[in-house]
Amino acid sequence: MLIAVVNGPNLNLLGTREPELYGRATLAEIEHQVRATAGTLGVTVEWIQSNHEGALVEAVQGLAGRADGALINAAALTHTSLALRDALLAVRLPFIEVHLSNIFAREPARRESLLADLAIGVVTGLGGRGYVLALEALVERLRDG
Ligand code: DQA
Repeated sequence: MLIAVVNGPNLNLLGTREPELYGRATLAEIEHQVRATAGTLGVTVEWIQSNHEGALVEAVQGLAGRADGALINAAALTHTSLALRDALLAVRLPFIEVHLSNIFAREPARRESLLADLAIGVVTGLGGRGYVLALEALVERLRDG
């Protein structure tokens, strides 16, 4: 089973970026935890991060017919990107939306997601741990239907 983990703009700066909001773990450390959990679950992870909307759209398009599911932290594009929404609709990929911070406790613009209604579920506010919990839930859902 192949699970893609798609990370949007500025998540490459985790560790030093607003740690009071996003924690002190780097994206590489979160990736390490996700890969360790994937190993335990017996699934393969494809890790993607880009600061460019078009690159993320192309990455999602490229998952068609290959990936079984995805975790998506589209970062700021969550709140703005119809293009990413359309790409997810086009590939019909089951996914869980993940956010490190609790987007519902933040500014009004961040409380809106253009992706959430397409998702199996949303994990928000649990830091890097949310990625691991979302992976476990996604694999369980894909296996059990
Ligand atoms: C984020 C929340 C977004 O509003 C923000 O733009 C991010 C990170 C999160 O993981 O909490 O870059 O997706």
